[in-house]
Amino acid sequence: MNDPTALRDRWLQAIAAATDPAALAELDSRLFGPKGEVLDFVRSVTTLPKEERPAFGKAANAIKQEVEQALAARREAFGKQTLAKELAASDFDPTEPGPRLPRGALHPITIVQNELIDLFTSMGFQWQDGPEVESEYYNFDALNIPQDHPARESQDTFWLSDGNLLRTHTSPVQVRTMQRLTKQGFHPPLKVVVPGRCFRSETVDKTHEHTFYQMEGLVVDRHVSTANLIHTMKTCLRVILERDVQVRLRPGFFPFVEPGFELDVNCPFCKGAGCSVCKQSGWIEILPCGMVHPNVLRQGGIDPEQFTGFAFGMGLQRVVMLRYGIDDIRQFMGGDLRFLQQFPEVAR
Ligand code: FA5
Repeated sequence: MNDPTALRDRWLQAIAAATDPAALAELDSRLFGPKGEVLDFVRSVTTLPKEERPAFGKAANAIKQEVEQALAARREAFGKQTLAKELAASDFDPTEPGPRLPRGALHPITIVQNELIDLFTSMGFQWQDGPEVESEYYNFDALNIPQDHPARESQDTFWLSDGNLLRTHTSPVQVRTMQRLTKQGFHPPLKVVVPGRCFRSETVDKTHEHTFYQMEGLVVDRHVSTANLIHTMKTCLRVILERDVQVRLRPGFFPFVEPGFELDVNCPFCKGAGCSVCKQSGWIEILPCGMVHPNVLRQGGIDPEQFTGFAFGMGLQRVVMLRYGIDDIRQFMGGDLRFLQQFPEVAR
């Protein structure tokens, strides 16, 4: 058998003499591969007489470990050399701050929604949420919408197989909110806004999406009148459209309000003179609203003899389009960065 010390010295010299990582890898497999020299050496213990084996085994294992460590140290040295070479060849400066990644910005619908929430909360409204998967009761029945109303037909509503539906408007949160409060023993005054996503099975075009945003408002108190409704709507539109607005009310039919109105705003683009945005009429239909129907108050557990209320359902995209002069609703969900990057407000 070879002299263990001579073998050890030969292996350590070979490791020290390896000139590059490839030569070191080759040496590694020569020494520690399946038929590697070091492993053969350790295994050769079986050829010795029994009494010599313990001492040899101990010495052989120590040599094996020493060679392994020498290999690892050489590998690390090569790694450092390679890194140093790469660094010397590049102009990378580890002390420089990293590249500035572009920061995300708020979606225009979110910007306007946030402003509206700030505005309404400053007027004493509370912000409420409601489920997007809704029951037929809250979406229709509780809102005094009769069984045969066309809105229940499948062309408008995404029905789910369990009999529920994707809410077609944010109005279901009216009765949900009234019920929740009255069940806890609270009574009006009550002022809430409910921003949220709505869904309708509609053909998508310049002004219609299957998924869109509304902001519902509900005020219930003693002696609430149409004058309160008009004042609140004017204040809201003045702030959001960033200019003074004139409004007019036309009759509008919604089973959950009586009387119901379509509120139009004097066209902010042509100031009422007539343009393509307002289709030469000088007015833009902006939000449906009305005085809460007594049946809806009753569903919410509120006595319509004592309390009255108003409600509105603003189409958020419609307001955003007016505010920024956007002429196609499909831009909002189109995912075109050129469109989105025009609204640089970053997340708060
Ligand atoms: C309603 O949804 C009523 N819930 C609003 C309401 C609330 C009336 C409270 C009275 C009292 P309407 O279907 O008109 O009404 O929708 C309200 C607004 O949502 C519309 O003016 C429009 O701006 C927006 N909207 C409706 N459908 C779509 C659609 N497919 N795509 C984009 N916006 C839509």
